Parts: sequence; structure tokens; C-alpha cells
Amino acid sequence: TNIILLGPPGAGKGTQARRMIDERGLVQLSTGDMLREAKASGNELGQIVAEVMARGELVTDEIVIGLIREKLGQGGKGFIFDGFPRTLAQADALQSLMAETDQRIDAVIEMQVDDAALIARITGRFTCGNCGEVYHDETRPTKVAGTCDACGSTDLRRRADDNEESLKTRLMEYYKKTSPLIGYYYAKGNLHTVDGLADIDVVAAAMSKVLDRLS
Ligand code: AP5
Ligand code: ZN
Repeated sequence: TNIILLGPPGAGKGTQARRMIDERGLVQLSTGDMLREAKASGNELGQIVAEVMARGELVTDEIVIGLIREKLGQGGKGFIFDGFPRTLAQADALQSLMAETDQRIDAVIEMQVDDAALIARITGRFTCGNCGEVYHDETRPTKVAGTCDACGSTDLRRRADDNEESLKTRLMEYYKKTSPLIGYYYAKGNLHTVDGLADIDVVAAAMSKVLDRLS
């Protein structure tokens, strides 16, 4: 099963993707994580994308399509695309890349969350630098302050683009360039919508229901 999680910054794509990896053995492909890894490694790509990401703008289609292309051979039981595609050009490229390897997108799940909630989520988010677990100051704090529940690491981090200024740009980019994908996938007949404002477990259950109906 190959699925796309579609939704604005802070909708909960990464949070839900991590649960599906554990529960269904799917492989998460997050272009945001790949780009942050490139940045952390300080390689040429990382240097090119760092400033663009910090501002909250999209990096070029060419760069992210290249990153995805490298990974498509390693699917296991299927992929969860998290934060990709983000433009119509990326969606078309994904379609062709999947076809080349005899794969297809089974479902696109749109996570709906209003802007006020997104701002609260993004400004309270922190993640584990070691295992990637995602937390929130209010809605999902660690059990022991300063220590990751999942792996015990004390390397908890905040993202450079998780401030109100960059978030404004990220939201603008989403509504201008990414939201047209809702119509694109609706027309293909594989769009599903979930209420992303609900509790994490409730959202997860709604997504499970979509996935169960596919198989
Ligand atoms: P990316 O890393 O993809 O960021 P994003 O889309 O802005 O999404 P986020 O990771 O911010 O949010 P999320 O939906 O995963 O939410 P999360 O689960 O963390 O992209 C970053 C940048 O990289 C882009 O701006 C761009 O520059 C570049 N980029 C990446 N992909 C690209 C592409 N394809 N093309 C071009 N450029 C690209 O949850 C957020 C918070 O809310 C957490 O604290 C969490 O604990 C909490 N939370 C989650 N669910 C709930 C819930 N149900 N109730 C309450 N709290 C919740
Ligand atoms: Zn951890």
C-alpha cells in the first residue's frame, strides 16, 4: 500500500506517519526529514536548501524529486509519502516514477486543520534528535522533562523554521502551491479526508479505517 499524507505544516503528517510505520510496516518518505538530514550533514545540497527552508519557502521540484527517486526501490510493504508531493509538478513526477517501477498510489489522505490550531502546534513542537519522536509542549509533553519517552535521549530540538514568521510563509506556500493537489487527487478518485483537529489517537483510527478499506 502506498499512501500520501497531504496537509498544511503542523497538520500531524509526521506524527501519524510514525504510527503507521510501527503498526503496518510501511516506509516513511519525508522530504522535509531528508532535507534536514542534508542540512545537518553540511553537504552541498544542505547548504543550498538551508536558507530556503528557514524562510519557509519550498525548495525546487528538481531537488526533492531527485531525493524521492533514490528511495523508490526500497519500499517493503509500501510507502507513506509525508510532505511530498507539494506541487503539481511533483505530483506528476511521482506518478511517472511509480509507474516506471510498477507501483501506484492507493490513497491520498488529506488532514484538515485550521490555521489557528496550526500556529499553536508549530510553536509548541519539539522533536527528539536521536529517534525523531515528535512532541508538543502542551498536547504531547515528554513524561520526564527533557528526556525522550521513546529512546531516553536528552537531545530534544526545535526546528529553525518553527517560528511565526516562517510559518506564515509556509502556510502561504501551502495554500498557493500544494492545496491544488486536493483537486488533482480528487479527480483521480483516491482522495480521503480526515479531521486533523481531533486527538492523535482519533486521527490515527480514522486513517486506519481508510487503509483497512483499501486491502
Ligand atoms: P516539512 O518537514 O515537510 O514540514 P511541514 O510540511 O511544514 O510539516 P511539519 O513537519 O511542520 O508538520 P507535520 O504535519 O508533520 O506535523 P507534526 O506531526 O510534526 O517541510 C519543511 C520544509 O522543507 C518546507 O518548508 C520546505 O522548505 C522543505 N520541503 C519539504 N518537502 C518539500 C517538497 N516536497 N517540496 C519543496 N520543499 C520541500 O505535528 C506538529 C505538532 O502538532 C507536533 O508538536 C505534534 O506533537 C502536534 N500534534 C500532531 N497531531 C496532533 C493532534 N491530533 N492533536 C494535537 N497535537 C497534535
Ligand atoms: Zn528519542
